[in-house]
Amino acid sequence: ALFPIGPTAPRGYAAGSPERTSTAKALDDIRAAGCDVPNLIGGGVVRTGRLMPVVTPHEHAYRLGQVHRAGQEETIRAIEAATAASAWWGRLPWEDRAAPFLRAADMLEHGPWRDRLNAATMLELSKTTYQADIDAACETVDFIRANVKNMLDMYDVQPGSLPGMWNQAEYRPLEGFVFAVTPFNFTCMNNLAFAPAVLGNTVVWKPAESASLVAHMSMELLREAGLPDGVINVVYGDGPEIGAVALGHRDLAAVHFTGSTATFQHIWHTVGANVASYRNYPRLIGETGGKDFILAHPSADLDALAVACVRGAYEYQGQKCSAASRLYAPRSLWPALKERLIALTESVVVGDPTDPETFVGAVINARQHAKHAEALARARAEKLVVVGGRTDDSLGWFVDPTVLEVDDPTSPFMTQELFAPVLTTYVYDDSAWAQVLRLVDESTSYGLTGAVFAADPAAVMQAEHALRYTAGNFYVNDKPTGSVVGQQPFGGARASGTNDKAGTVWNLIRFSSPRSIKRNH
Ligand code: NAD
Ligand code: ALA
Repeated sequence: ALFPIGPTAPRGYAAGSPERTSTAKALDDIRAAGCDVPNLIGGGVVRTGRLMPVVTPHEHAYRLGQVHRAGQEETIRAIEAATAASAWWGRLPWEDRAAPFLRAADMLEHGPWRDRLNAATMLELSKTTYQADIDAACETVDFIRANVKNMLDMYDVQPGSLPGMWNQAEYRPLEGFVFAVTPFNFTCMNNLAFAPAVLGNTVVWKPAESASLVAHMSMELLREAGLPDGVINVVYGDGPEIGAVALGHRDLAAVHFTGSTATFQHIWHTVGANVASYRNYPRLIGETGGKDFILAHPSADLDALAVACVRGAYEYQGQKCSAASRLYAPRSLWPALKERLIALTESVVVGDPTDPETFVGAVINARQHAKHAEALARARAEKLVVVGGRTDDSLGWFVDPTVLEVDDPTSPFMTQELFAPVLTTYVYDDSAWAQVLRLVDESTSYGLTGAVFAADPAAVMQAEHALRYTAGNFYVNDKPTGSVVGQQPFGGARASGTNDKAGTVWNLIRFSSPRSIKRNH
């Protein structure tokens, strides 16, 4: 019997249940209404007429609607709106700033907004019902509430005073605007705009092109919850075009980025080149790519390991920065593990993610699909495929859940981020535990997530020590995906980011410029 690989739909989602019916209605409503996504500048909607389509990845001929691309002029207007709002937003009492966000979290947790944002996430990002719910609803709500708690915890950190004086740390928002740049793969990345704003900053938000509808809906929710005009301004469209304007502006106070390593390095170079022209040194906070590992020790529990491999590698089509994409398996376990991986992989349902049985939807766009098709053609030619290994773009951009096996641990399949449901395995000799620890650490430039599976406590301890900098999120006997806000603060170092841990006080403090005040009395 196959070990169950875990849910494809949220709890309480049985056929005929109110949850299932209301999600189905939300999907129908979005399809029926279509969408026309304008930029949002100072509370006003700005339609440019320069359009890009909103596509459904699992049915790419289907257009959900269109997005109005911003250019230089709209980006400048968004910056002006943000800097104008910073004159009053950051001076409001914290309760007034927190209120619209907390209201939005309540609206998202219970009621039609949950269905709407989940449905948009399923249609635009091709997330399954389960993956959409843990992202768009659960993680967004968790981030919002954590931001408010973290803000108060931060305010509580105050310097000491001697008799006759009162010393205070005043947590000012940054001077200028925050440029939030988000990736396509998580709706809850709206938090990159939300977190600085709660603290009193004002924001210019540039969402990923392929995630425009979910960004637009997140802002509709916030506006309905009472967020004042100008606090978060959204410009859609081309990253380099919008980025050049925002990164070149003297009032740039911070970049809050999640996306690829290459894009963040480009941003860092640009900020470096412009450094003398800014009013303040911009804070650079970036979460970037990964090549996340699962390392199995000979003492590992096989069933738990196999499920972690399949879930870690295939959830959201392997398009999580945290996705398991390289597996180190001991020779003694490999035959039995391989058998389980083949059986589990063949049991995974690939298709329309709005069907609650589906585990794997489509990848985000034609460009990514073409890249994966080329990589898997190479894998087939090199006879690396254990299971899967095909792609199909006739209806949607589908990639088979795939396990590869390589002889060379330096193969690009073991070292380069692919962002597809592909797990590459390197089989090591059981006696080579110390060498494999070094290999896991040194094979890539990344440092995001990783998991070790072992029943032997000494092996776990050795791995924790040897892999100290290999993963910002380190899991023992669990898959490397699915961190929970407030439980496993998320983020990585090395080429995976500045490790400022989204959803924590350590992240929030980057968006404050504290002032020390000494008052004698
Ligand atoms: P991407 O780098 O292609 O795009 C990210 C964002 O940057 C988009 O909004 C894009 O338009 C914008 N952009 C591109 N060029 C720009 C420029 N010159 N100036 C300003 N903005 C620019 O990444 P993606 O494909 O959307 O996302 C996938 C990547 O994100 C993967 O590498 C993944 O590992 C990473 N990611 C990391 C984390 C994390 O927490 N470490 C989380 C999610 C995604
Ligand atoms: N929170 C997401 C995960 O851990 C990024 O998979």
